[in-house]
Amino acid sequence: MDSPLLDVSMSKSFGKIDVLRDIRFRVRPNEFLVVVGPTGCGKTTLGNILSGIDKPTSGHVRIMGEDVNPHIHNISYVLQEPSCIPWYTMMQDVTMGLEIRGVGRAEAVSRGSEVIKLVGLEGYENYYPWQISGGMKQRVAIARAYATSPDLLIMDEPFGHLDAQTRYLMQIEIMRIWEQDRKTVVFITNNIEEAVYLASRILVLTKLPATIKKEYVVDIPRPRDLTDERFLEVRAEITQQCEIVE
Ligand SMILES: Nc1ncnc2c1ncn2[C@@H]1O[C@H](COP(=O)(O)OP(=O)(O)O)[C@@H](O)[C@H]1O
Ligand SMILES: [Mg+2]
Repeated sequence: MDSPLLDVSMSKSFGKIDVLRDIRFRVRPNEFLVVVGPTGCGKTTLGNILSGIDKPTSGHVRIMGEDVNPHIHNISYVLQEPSCIPWYTMMQDVTMGLEIRGVGRAEAVSRGSEVIKLVGLEGYENYYPWQISGGMKQRVAIARAYATSPDLLIMDEPFGHLDAQTRYLMQIEIMRIWEQDRKTVVFITNNIEEAVYLASRILVLTKLPATIKKEYVVDIPRPRDLTDERFLEVRAEITQQCEIVE
């Protein structure tokens, strides 16, 4: 493997509860890695540790060879619950991270316009969260995550609360963005179809305590067709491996 962007080898427990057991994997630059596993298996715990906001009990998470530190490394983390500041316009919200980093207003607005356009929300720059739909809020969260041009983008079930139609549109959208800028993504989901649609590679987690059960390289050409024979084959195989009861 080329030198990895992310190098993970760790375990995590909360008191006596083992949550993540001997999780080892690497992520190459420009990869779209999807981690799929059943609800409650420790996916959010993993996202928190990869992003550096929580620490493993043992082992390490290294980004570009250094122990991950959210204050030093440029990592964006998109959560399941889209969170927008109620009194911020979309532009203010999306440029928040840039301003914290000391980027001047004019440059921040220029970058803000770029990422708002990237997620298809051009024209809504002055809207407040209460004026937009749930799907749009999730796009704002994604635009905000992209605004700082992160080295690593972590997404934890970002489409979990969306209706099926919006979810599908967002999957197409996120692929379109990834094909444009090839940011390294770790995308966490409990949805196997979503995993197969998006991933370059999939890690399948077991139930609690989560271990990596299997790894799949998904080489189906993009854009992927959910009804394509090969797609259905891969999906069926992963479904067999997963302990997800839906
Ligand atoms: N801060 C915490 N303290 C104690 N237990 C926790 C904490 N965070 C998560 N857990 C436990 O870890 C397990 C995995 O949770 P989580 O990572 O949220 O799973 P998932 O995101 O896959 O649904 C659950 O049993 C949960 O109760
Ligand atoms: Mg979770």
